Amino acid sequence: MPFIALGTWKSKKGTVGNAVRLALRHGYRHIDCAWAYDNEDEIGVVLTEVFKEGKLKRGDVFITSKLWCRHHAPEDVLPACQETLTNLQLDYLDLYLVHIPCAFKKDAKVPTRCIADGVIGYSPEGIASTWKAMEELVDKGLCKAIGISNFTIKKTQTLLETARIPPACNQVELHPYLHQDELISFSTSKGIAVTAYSPLGSPDRPVVNPTEPVVLENPVLTKIAEKHNTTAALVALAWGIKRGTPVLPKAVSENHIKENLDAIHVNLDEDDMKAIQNIGIRHRYLKMCWMYKPEEIPVGGVWDGEE
Ligand SMILES: NC(=O)c1ccc[n+]([C@@H]2O[C@H](COP(=O)([O-])OP(=O)(O)OC[C@H]3O[C@@H](n4cnc5c(N)ncnc54)[C@H](OP(=O)(O)O)[C@@H]3O)[C@@H](O)[C@H]2O)c1
Repeated sequence: MPFIALGTWKSKKGTVGNAVRLALRHGYRHIDCAWAYDNEDEIGVVLTEVFKEGKLKRGDVFITSKLWCRHHAPEDVLPACQETLTNLQLDYLDLYLVHIPCAFKKDAKVPTRCIADGVIGYSPEGIASTWKAMEELVDKGLCKAIGISNFTIKKTQTLLETARIPPACNQVELHPYLHQDELISFSTSKGIAVTAYSPLGSPDRPVVNPTEPVVLENPVLTKIAEKHNTTAALVALAWGIKRGTPVLPKAVSENHIKENLDAIHVNLDEDDMKAIQNIGIRHRYLKMCWMYKPEEIPVGGVWDGEE
């Protein structure tokens, strides 16, 4: 899995195709998609055009997508994957993730409140049956690998008890304010790769509370950036890469798309890594509070009691 991917959440139709085209032109070989981002069809058009142009083949690009919460019923998994493949105009996915360990009713909208209509919730039996259907996608050759996203250690352990094919990857929020040390060491011990979503602290997330700390303004990061003659964003990405977690920065502007690839060349030293490790702030931006019981909120989570 290439260490830098283009993230595509919030990249609107009308811009996402251009972002993917630019990313592939500048050297990205990893695109992070999801059915729920409602833009896979435009990405598919661009992928087909790029492959037709002949400079890149399908096998050159690592493409991830995700099974949405409305499609957890075992009979819905294959059609959901087929819909994503049709939208992306692909024969197979490199990686297909269970997006969130929380089932919704089939007609549910994305919840905006902690207690929301349409949320069925998490159950070990529910995820086990979803996973069995995910495993069948691998058997059919529709996905090269399957994985999970937003799973805590406990939920991953529970899944491992019944999985025939262990998850290849857990994609989680991970940045200098949310290190995920325990999850990384647990996952590594089980052979599960951890990938870092919102590696820049998701500054364009839908709900921004002005009292929340801002990753890219952190003085430790800006000081290290000055030392390396680079930006705080690249320091945050380089830190993730150096810890062995592929990073998935979303960008639609060409400057950002180009700049982020340079993270691979930012060589943080031990002092830099220690300084970031010692940043005292712990913060989770994407709370998805509707998927936890209050006593289950993971480390760094903030149960802010909304609704
Ligand atoms: N599995 C999940 O549940 C889950 C959840 C969240 C995210 N993800 C994945 O992870 C990806 C990234 O997370 P995210 O979208 O939340 O946020 P992010 O990548 O942390 O931040 C994206 C924001 O940072 C800006 N940006 C990009 N490069 C920059 C740079 N070099 N300097 C300054 N600003 C920069 C972007 O601007 P422009 O777009 O204007 O260029 C955009 O506003 C998502 O797009 C998605 O693919 C997965």
